[in-house]
Amino acid sequence: MKLKNVKISVVGAGFVGSTTAYALMLGGICEELVLVDLNQNKAAGEAMDLSHGAAFVRPVKVTAGTYADTAGSDIVVITAGAAQKPGETRLDLVNRNINIFKSLIPEVVRYSPESILLIVSNPVDILSYVAYKLSGFPPERVIGSGTVLDTSRFRTLLAEHLHVDARSIHGYIIGEHGDSEIAAWSLTSIAGVNMAEYVGITHQNKPDLDFMTKIPEGVKNAAYAMISTKGYTNYAVALAVRRICEAITGDERSILTVSSLLQGEFGLKDLYLGVPSIVGKEGVIQVLEVPLAEDEMVRFMDSARTMEDVLRNSSL
Ligand code: 2OP
Repeated sequence: MKLKNVKISVVGAGFVGSTTAYALMLGGICEELVLVDLNQNKAAGEAMDLSHGAAFVRPVKVTAGTYADTAGSDIVVITAGAAQKPGETRLDLVNRNINIFKSLIPEVVRYSPESILLIVSNPVDILSYVAYKLSGFPPERVIGSGTVLDTSRFRTLLAEHLHVDARSIHGYIIGEHGDSEIAAWSLTSIAGVNMAEYVGITHQNKPDLDFMTKIPEGVKNAAYAMISTKGYTNYAVALAVRRICEAITGDERSILTVSSLLQGEFGLKDLYLGVPSIVGKEGVIQVLEVPLAEDEMVRFMDSARTMEDVLRNSSL
């Protein structure tokens, strides 16, 4: 994709789509931002509100429109679709959102055949695969937001526990963006020191390891906690999307746990999962087949199997 005069379209102007547009605007990473929603009035209102902030951010033209107005987008962020209600899992949304994608993806592709599709709607790993199949795009140009958000939640909770900056913690949540996700503790490090060792150092070798169970549970249940209180999630996911877009538009080659197509990595094929991937202007440049601890690998395979079953039984 081109790195100048970047155009990003956001399909779906609900809580996630409109907050994403806001985050992208604050990030100053594009010159043009187009919002599309079935509810055209809603998209128009959001675009107008955002555009009135023009005096406070880098120049960006924010508009609402139809698919035709998304023509020539560099990145199309898809947030459209049903969202979880209290008591629902992300996987419960699968067939409703596959059907929405069947009408939406061809429109996006028609107007922006060279774009990178960034899928955010849930279940994101399944829908990324669906978008890959429906678009006919090469896999590097179909990316899911994956576990980028979960990874931030993980680093945040660990940072709170250890009293250090979340940005100084390296670690990943991998697998499904959902109930079968895995905290890759074996890859987690602070100040270049493996987490287990770091905790030993800071706790004089008598670490309380309860947090190693509690933090991944907190990450996994985070969305449920917000859905049962405020009703939805929007801010952190929007920042995660901005982070991915920034890696693309800046050709940063950042390592992010986006949902990528596995093509033999970890012995898996034809499946999208959140895995550390190098992200730059071409999209996913490389999936990193990182070494996992034995128990993590077993759980990663279970997560993959869960995804394969959902796909097999879906309406794709
Ligand atoms: C989230 O994790 C609901 O997938 C959304 O916030």
